[in-house]
Amino acid sequence: MSAEKPTSPQPHALRRERFMAAIGPDGVAVVFATSEKRRNSDVHHLFRSASDFYYLTGFREPDAILVLTPCRADGESTLFVLPRDPLKEQWNGKRLGVERAGEVLGVDHAYSIDEVAQVLPGLLAKRDTVYVNAADDPDIQSNLETWMDAAKGSGYEAPSDVQPLDDTLHELRLFKDASEIALMQEAADISSAAHQRAMQVCEPGMSELRLESELQHEFAVRGARFTAYPSIVASGENACILHYVENNDIIQDGDLVLIDAGCEYEYYAADITRTFPANGTFSAMQKDVFDLVLESQLAAIQQAKPGNVFTAPHDKAHEVLADGLRQLGVLSQSVDEILEKELQKPFTVHRVSHFLGMDVHDVGKREVDNIGRLLEPNMVLTIEPGLYFGTPETMPSLDPKWHGIGIRIEDDVLVTEAGNHVLTDGVPKTAAAIESLMNA
Ligand code: GLY
Ligand code: MN
Ligand code: MN
Repeated sequence: MSAEKPTSPQPHALRRERFMAAIGPDGVAVVFATSEKRRNSDVHHLFRSASDFYYLTGFREPDAILVLTPCRADGESTLFVLPRDPLKEQWNGKRLGVERAGEVLGVDHAYSIDEVAQVLPGLLAKRDTVYVNAADDPDIQSNLETWMDAAKGSGYEAPSDVQPLDDTLHELRLFKDASEIALMQEAADISSAAHQRAMQVCEPGMSELRLESELQHEFAVRGARFTAYPSIVASGENACILHYVENNDIIQDGDLVLIDAGCEYEYYAADITRTFPANGTFSAMQKDVFDLVLESQLAAIQQAKPGNVFTAPHDKAHEVLADGLRQLGVLSQSVDEILEKELQKPFTVHRVSHFLGMDVHDVGKREVDNIGRLLEPNMVLTIEPGLYFGTPETMPSLDPKWHGIGIRIEDDVLVTEAGNHVLTDGVPKTAAAIESLMNA
C-alpha cells in the first residue's frame, strides 16, 4: 500500500453536494473505500478504492470511510482515514493522515479510522435511512449493524433501514461530467495506441502472452498502470471463448487474433475489441464474416443517440447480423423468423452494449419500471457485436468451413446532444485500414 496524490477536491465536492441533495435530510450515507484483498500468503492485490468512494472523495487509500449527513449544521462530510504512522509508512508507503485530510480532500471533519466506533454512531442520529455501498460485503454489513445498534443504545433516534445507494449515487455516475469525459477520452486514446501497437508487432509464431505484454507496455508508458479488466488476447478458436484470459497459446499463420483490452486511467475504463489477421491479410472467408460484424457495429453506433432506447443498438446489430448469416448461408430462414426465434443467438452469444465509466460494466439502470431506458447525453456505452462459430465439438451441425472463426468489434461511445462521439475511433477498424497498418 502507498498513498498517491489525491486529485483536486472540486469535482468530488460538487458530487457530494449533488448526492446529498438526492438522499435528502432524512438520509445518511456511509461509503466505504474497502480494504486491501489478499492474493496469497503475505501478498495483496494492488489496492483500488471502491468506485463509489473514489467518485465522492478522489482518495486512494484503503480502510477509509466517508459519512455524508445532509443538512447537518455541524458539517455534512466526515472522513475516517488511516492515521499517520512512521513505522507502518516505512513498510507500506506514505499516508495522507487525519491532519491533512480536511484541507486536501475538502471534507468538513476528518478522524482516524481507529475512532470510527466512537464517532460514527453519533452521525446516524435522527436519520431514517442509511445508504451504503458494497452492501453485500459481510464485514461491512456487520460493522454497520454494530454502529446502528450503538446509535440506538445511546438513545439516539437511529435508522433501522439500510439501502444500497444505487438509485441515488449510481444515477449520478451514469451521467459523466466534463472532467470524467476528459479522463475517459484519455483512457480511450491510450488503449487505442495499445491496440495499434499490437497490430503492428503481431506475427505468426508469437505467443499470445507476448502480445499481451505489448498492450501492457503501451498502457504503462502512457501513464496507465492498470488494465480495466484482464486483457483477452485470443488467437484462432480461442476467440470463441468470450472471457478467454489464459493468453498462453502460440499464434498461428492464418489465425485471426481477437484482442479485447482497455486500460484504466485515473479510475476510468476503456473497453476496446479489434480482430485482425495474424499474418496481416484476411482470408476471403474471414473477411466476409469481418465485414458483416463491422456493418452491424456501424449500424448499431448510429442508433446510439438521445431518445433511443438503450437496446436500440443491440436490436439493430442483430437485425444486420441475422440478415448476414442468411446471406452467408449459415442460416436459411427469413430475417423475421431468425429474429423471432432468436436463431442467431448461438452465433452472437452476448449483448451488444453495457454502460462504461469507472467500472468496465458500469452502473446505471438499463430499465426503469420494466421499460427500456432512453439514452441521454453524457451517458457512455460500448457497442460490441460479435460472431462466434465455435468448434466441431460446440457446433457439430455447422458447416466445418466456419469453425474457429470468432470476431468482435467494440468501441466506446459517448452520447451527445447531436448523436454520439466514438471515443475509441483512433484504432483502425475496417479490414483495409487494419491490413494497411499491419503491412506498413
Ligand atoms: N471486456 C469486457 C466486455 O467487453 O464487456
Ligand atoms: Mn465491453
Ligand atoms: Mn470488451
